[in-house]
Amino acid sequence: MAKKIGVLTSGGDAPGMNSAVRAVTRAALSKNMEVLGIQRGYVGLLNREVVEMTARSVSGIIQRGGTCLYTARCPEFRNMDGVLKGKAVCEELGLEGIVVIGGDGSFRGAGDLSSVGIPCIGIPGTIDNDIQCTEYTIGYDTAMNTAMDMIDRLRDTAQSHDRCSVVEVMGRKAGYIAVNVAIAVGAEAVLTLERPYDLDAIAAKMIKTMRSKDGKHHFIIVVAEGVGQAENIARTLQEMTGIESRVTVLGHVQRGGSPTLRDRVIATEMGYHAVELLEQGIGNRIVGMKDGQVYDIDIQEGLAMKKPFLDRRYDIFYDTAY
Ligand code: ADP
Ligand code: F6P
Repeated sequence: MAKKIGVLTSGGDAPGMNSAVRAVTRAALSKNMEVLGIQRGYVGLLNREVVEMTARSVSGIIQRGGTCLYTARCPEFRNMDGVLKGKAVCEELGLEGIVVIGGDGSFRGAGDLSSVGIPCIGIPGTIDNDIQCTEYTIGYDTAMNTAMDMIDRLRDTAQSHDRCSVVEVMGRKAGYIAVNVAIAVGAEAVLTLERPYDLDAIAAKMIKTMRSKDGKHHFIIVVAEGVGQAENIARTLQEMTGIESRVTVLGHVQRGGSPTLRDRVIATEMGYHAVELLEQGIGNRIVGMKDGQVYDIDIQEGLAMKKPFLDRRYDIFYDTAY
């Protein structure tokens, strides 16, 4: 039964991380546990950068993007020396468990720390939704809504100029954001790593869509970051079609901003669930979502899973994008 726990955010930040930090803190305090906020992920753990968390220290953060605990990437934690140093710091601080809010890299660290006797619980926080064992990761909804709003604006100006707009959205290894956003903005094409694409076919569609008598005045192509080449794609299509094309890389704006209701609520439920596990002395688990319900799974088992792509949604997109 843990009486003193830590909470940290690690890897890329995501809107809703603050909501999760608040939930972990408030849930633990209500169970009479002490909570330390560990700043800058595993870097702060190794450097003992900790702050006492109180009910008031997490007031007013549920609606704020970013992470009040800051975040970092910590190469030292990738090897056992770093992990053992982390265990020693936990023992020194009296920490009997840690909630790690981050992505799969952060969960590997949490698994390693659990294996040396410090129970850790992972909560998925990344806008990419690319964690295998969960249907949902905190930040995904907010990021997609931000991208959708931005592309709605791009559509206005593309339409005024009869242009093609090639927009890169985040997702270094995954096209989940791209497919959903493409549907939501009524794009004409989406390019992801998970499915092959054919620029000749897209060029033909551009000509058919924009050059016919009752044609469209815009052509939006959503490109997942992992595909890259947005500049090349736009230049090639412009040369092939004669249709003026512009590129926008949305970048880190997608990682900031006030979390949506969905992100705040799911972060709160996941944070609460994580504390319930630590309260029972259970570690080495990832909290995730399965069939719409919050659940937990062994870290190694969770990391070994394979996540299906949005195949049906991708096909529905192309069947309705004309
Ligand atoms: P994310 O958690 O968002 O996937 P990273 O992959 O950058 O982000 O991982 C964040 C941190 O997790 C790393 O800086 C490191 O501290 C830890 N980490 C990453 N990979 C491993 C690993 N293979 N073993 C142990 N810890 C790791
Ligand atoms: O959080 C995941 C992600 O948004 C990826 O889609 C993107 O490639 C990456 O983070 C960029 O992160 P950073 O610029 O912090 O390295």
